[in-house]
Amino acid sequence: MCGIVGYTGPKNIRDVLIDGLKRLDYRGYDSAGVGVRKEDEIYLQKKKGRIEDLSKEDIPEGKAGIGHTRWATHGKPSDENAHPFVDCRGEIAIVHNGIIDNFNSIKDELIDKGHEFSSETDSEVIVHLLEENNDGDLLEAFKKTVTKISGSYAILALRRDSSELLVTRNQSPMVVGIGEDENLVASDAPALLEHTKNVKYLQDGDIARITGDEIDIWNEDDQLIERKTKKIEWDLEDAEKGGYEHFMLKEIFEQPKAIHESILGRLTNFDEFDLSKYDPNAIQFIACGTSAHAGFVGKYIFEKIAKIPCTLEFSSEYRHSSPSESYPLTILLSQSGETLDTMAAAREANQRGNDTLAITNVLDSSITREVDEVMYTQAGPEIGVAATKTFTTQVVMLYLLAIEMGIKRNVLSKDQADKYRDELRRLPRKVESILNDKEKIRDMTESLAKAEDIFFVGRNINYPVALEGALKLKEIAYIHAAGYPAGELKHGPFALLTENTPVIAIAVKDETFDKMLGNIGEIAARDSPVIVVGDKDKELEKLADDAYFIPDVPPLFSPLLVNVVLQLISYYTAYRLDRDIDKPRNLAKSVTVE
Ligand code: AGP
Repeated sequence: MCGIVGYTGPKNIRDVLIDGLKRLDYRGYDSAGVGVRKEDEIYLQKKKGRIEDLSKEDIPEGKAGIGHTRWATHGKPSDENAHPFVDCRGEIAIVHNGIIDNFNSIKDELIDKGHEFSSETDSEVIVHLLEENNDGDLLEAFKKTVTKISGSYAILALRRDSSELLVTRNQSPMVVGIGEDENLVASDAPALLEHTKNVKYLQDGDIARITGDEIDIWNEDDQLIERKTKKIEWDLEDAEKGGYEHFMLKEIFEQPKAIHESILGRLTNFDEFDLSKYDPNAIQFIACGTSAHAGFVGKYIFEKIAKIPCTLEFSSEYRHSSPSESYPLTILLSQSGETLDTMAAAREANQRGNDTLAITNVLDSSITREVDEVMYTQAGPEIGVAATKTFTTQVVMLYLLAIEMGIKRNVLSKDQADKYRDELRRLPRKVESILNDKEKIRDMTESLAKAEDIFFVGRNINYPVALEGALKLKEIAYIHAAGYPAGELKHGPFALLTENTPVIAIAVKDETFDKMLGNIGEIAARDSPVIVVGDKDKELEKLADDAYFIPDVPPLFSPLLVNVVLQLISYYTAYRLDRDIDKPRNLAKSVTVE
């Protein structure tokens, strides 16, 4: 949460900062601000609201600058609480992402020493602490300041007397972009793509001093070290809307390609890591939000294909559960690889002696350093706050992994494995055919946009998809929605059904189909409008008020197709309500607070 960008070099600073921030605003959009070094002064502009609310033309030319887009944690969104913050003498400005846990006691001490604070944030203590520790060598003061604060942070500092930037991180991402006669820093790669694809990923405890032609990095033991230069595989176009009205729609439409790229190579030769090292008797999926729903689908996939009992736990709850006697394989799913709860869960799983595997979309993200093995989804950058293509590719990874495990455990024949692989190969085409029906799906949302409550029901492997459908609708359309196993409605939620409560029922022809038909009949008998998403069937047509039938697919592979329909349903419902689809209120793309 919170986007940070910094630049030192000859380019027009206002373009670099503002364009960079715009590429990061999915990380938070409560306020925005910039600080620019101009003729030994620090120019500041910061405002509650979006980056577009800053007045770009007032930002002066300068050789170094920092920018911030905020997701509020301490202190409400306001001009005063917007970053950057400057010290009392106006010599240093900082931007911060994360939470400083011990800020209260530091603030009290600093106030006693005469420092004046202008905000309610935890972040502002950093700049006053820097000022307090600064006896002429700001780098040393920076290093000292870091030892005094605890919590999660990425901090970027600008000074008025030189064009160097100082940066550090702990449990919050920071990437240094390497240019020619210029260098950059940002909390996420998309902000750098316009300038460079060569980057260094800072690690926890690193402190870097960045000038136009030098990058010096000290590790947590204060040793000057080299961090490897890596190449970002994403292109600038991947991080742009490319003619779509919203990133979310673009990302929904990128799913055929994302599936294809995620299975490419892995279907014929799975050499991601040495699977034979692992023969778990149980698998534990751990994640948050949409990634948790992908893990929940994974539970059904692994139980069916690899015959391994599985559980799903939310990252934020895992640490409070009791360790079991067995040592399962723990699979942590995180699009960003930065979700703090999931990072903490990874550490806990390691401590409990489990083998750990992370599935993430972001190269070198923090979680990759916490686990034994990593698998990367090849979804490309996901900018819309609502996760779409990364859910799909996470689930694709789980199919791939389950097939490999099924073979290794001798519970899956080669023939059956090949059939499953063929199904994966066919998925992009089938998703494409759903996308071609977008107008039809859009038309189904007219009545949904008028509803105040919507239920999503599914059974078996599509129960998690019902949960995901409900999450997506809540998140972007701001309509209350709840996902249930279809058989559970009659145990309570039925009391809420009226002719104004639409129910979206997922009905595919697996062993639960007849029961699902019964459930839909029960719902229809309460006069609730039923919208069916599933396999074509005459009986369903009779029962449903509206229906979308997915292309032919074995039930085991139906979740991805059903989910694409639900993504479009959420998108068009939110569109009708004129919601801020890519940046829904109160949310941020990666959640780096607990
Ligand atoms: C999904 O639409 C949400 N924005 C959210 O639930 C998200 O999936 C969750 O915060 C987990 O993020 P991660 O995958 O980056 O860990």
